[in-house]
Amino acid sequence: MIEVGLEVLSLSQSSASLHKPNMMRNIVAGNWKSNKSINESREWMNEMGDEASNLPSNVRVMIAPPAPYLSSLAECKPSNVILASQNVSATGTGAYTGEYTAEMLLSCGVDFAFIGHSERREYYSDTNEVVVEKISRCLEAGLGIVLCCGEPLEIRDAGTHQEMIAGQLESAFGGIEDVDPAKFVIAYEPIWAIGTGRTASADQAGEMHTFIRSWLSNKFGSERAEQLSILYGGSCKPANASELFANADVDGGLIGGASLITSDFCQIIQAAGE
Ligand code: PGA
Repeated sequence: MIEVGLEVLSLSQSSASLHKPNMMRNIVAGNWKSNKSINESREWMNEMGDEASNLPSNVRVMIAPPAPYLSSLAECKPSNVILASQNVSATGTGAYTGEYTAEMLLSCGVDFAFIGHSERREYYSDTNEVVVEKISRCLEAGLGIVLCCGEPLEIRDAGTHQEMIAGQLESAFGGIEDVDPAKFVIAYEPIWAIGTGRTASADQAGEMHTFIRSWLSNKFGSERAEQLSILYGGSCKPANASELFANADVDGGLIGGASLITSDFCQIIQAAGE
């Protein structure tokens, strides 16, 4: 729950300062995509509960299971794990078959929704316009948001990745005057690194995250930009997490494959807390 997250935040703020300017930014979020049965999901929650006391208190831990499991997992998840949805409807209550609203998610114990993941953009027509609509539904309902942005390989190769990310951010944040850093998270996920085993180098990630933070600073002011979490996603795993997170502007990760196994996920959480 967000309340739990915020308790963790205030604890972490009073702890000795580490290399990051603002420890409340640390988040490790898992994205199971279309993986795991309900029993495997419950087992994962049990294992995370067993590990809870070994995990750093300065990292918010979030997991996005498949939607059908959310309300059941809300009842058995450990208190340090925040539940997220991999998706949310762009429409409201009514005749929208197959959709689920931000209010429904909140009522099931879900605190965040991912918006604009590249797989949603690519396979399910989540255009920038749909992303804007989903953001506004979540803001209206009070559901937290993890906004994903990222460029495909051809854009990276053409050297226009910063322009593309700026375009995605301009579109997403266009009508927004301010954001609550406890409830709005940005994830940079280069598409060429998602599920490919090919990770952005620490320098590539660092450069983009600094670019995104300076974009946020221009939009919302430097104080707000310093409070916002920017996560890296794309083949982040125990072996490369520490190097990626050592960047001052990389506040943690959005983890796909490596979130499925609790021991891997916990190692990444440890790296985010260093
Ligand atoms: P990956 O996925 O860690 O398996 O590359 C990341 C994501 O899609 O969020």
